[in-house]
Amino acid sequence: MKLEAAVLWGLNEPWSVEEVELDGPSEGEVLIKLASSGLCHSDEHLVTGDIPIPFPVVGGHEGAGTVLEVGPNVSAVGPGDHVVLSFLPSCGRCKWCASGHTNLCDLGANIILGPQLDGTYRFHARGEGVGQMCLLGTFSPYTVVPAASVVKIDDDIPLRVASLVGCGVTTGFGSATNSAGVRPGDTVVVMGIGGVGANAVQGARCAGAQNIVALDPVPFKREKAEELGATHTAADFDEAWAIVSELTRGQLAEACIITTDVAEAAYIRQGLAMVGKKGRVVVTSVAHPEETKADMSLFELTMYEKEVRGALFGSSNAQVEIPRILNLYRQGQVKLDELVTTTYSLKDINQGYEDMRNGKNIRGMITYE
Ligand SMILES: NC(=O)c1ccc[n+]([C@@H]2O[C@H](COP(=O)([O-])OP(=O)(O)OC[C@H]3O[C@@H](n4cnc5c(N)ncnc54)[C@H](O)[C@@H]3O)[C@@H](O)[C@H]2O)c1
Ligand SMILES: [Zn+2]
Ligand SMILES: [Zn+2]
Repeated sequence: MKLEAAVLWGLNEPWSVEEVELDGPSEGEVLIKLASSGLCHSDEHLVTGDIPIPFPVVGGHEGAGTVLEVGPNVSAVGPGDHVVLSFLPSCGRCKWCASGHTNLCDLGANIILGPQLDGTYRFHARGEGVGQMCLLGTFSPYTVVPAASVVKIDDDIPLRVASLVGCGVTTGFGSATNSAGVRPGDTVVVMGIGGVGANAVQGARCAGAQNIVALDPVPFKREKAEELGATHTAADFDEAWAIVSELTRGQLAEACIITTDVAEAAYIRQGLAMVGKKGRVVVTSVAHPEETKADMSLFELTMYEKEVRGALFGSSNAQVEIPRILNLYRQGQVKLDELVTTTYSLKDINQGYEDMRNGKNIRGMITYE
């Protein structure tokens, strides 16, 4: 079919909303009609080169929609099913899937290569194959994705907000509940309140944290963090450290979750300074692959048994955590509607990213129809 999608043709270029051709689903794939797509910062990383991907590519990896058609050998979902797209596929058979870490599935190696799992393209434009961000490409009203990338959800959940659970919500929530292992009574610092960090705040709240300190230089972000459960806010590191030190009588935080726009060496040092003995620094933000230096006190690392760990999709298993978070949404314990600051039509996608860069959105969202 012919349709309009947002394609990136090179580094530091704007998204080009143009006519593309979309093939039907091959073996193991599904055709999806999308309801919406979140504007996650990871697609901005494609533009800046922080996440290297071959061009051209249809962007977008935070979507939900309805299955229209399935290719051969797809049994898990069928036409009419509502699904959230997971930015990480899961084969169910590799060592990581089998041991309950589907976020680390070996198929994940394919998510920034461009073509589908069989090496061929479903999207075509200007006479060439066009790749799909995370095998998804949600900056398009229709897409074809691996069945390994979809999670069936209940029909009563509004599809528009369900899209956010495909990346930002689960990534942030799990960064607190799984990766940081937040426990009742903990003091947690969340550094960076975007679409991901806002949900680290929600995760910390659901896990029973006593103090949740949201750190962001943008006043609007700090206000939103309070609405989502932050108990304290700070505009910079020094202010946050003083609050944490006061609240814990100098014991400092159990966890600091880094959800800034990019990961930088200095943030690791700041995160480690924010946590006390056995404190954990979770690095959810993405840094450029060639960034290899981090700055930390190795002495304190040993003497206080501090930890630094990365977190992919909040260390979450999509088939488990996506329905779980949607249940919490249904019960009013996780807010999703409130995360969407502005909705855009696909043709205004560059405005959406401009607004993200200017700190105007917790999450911007493209809606289809
Ligand atoms: N690990 C994963 O699985 C995963 C998944 C999704 C996104 N990400 C990454 O998470 C990061 C955040 O994504 P997002 O969509 O929420 O981005 P965003 O742009 O919506 O939010 C980033 C926030 O960080 C704030 N910020 C910038 N510098 C700061 C500083 N020094 N201290 C405190 N706050 C600061 C900004 O004001 C902004 O509010 C990105 O790097 C993204 O690629 C990782
Ligand atoms: Zn994302
Ligand atoms: Zn696997």
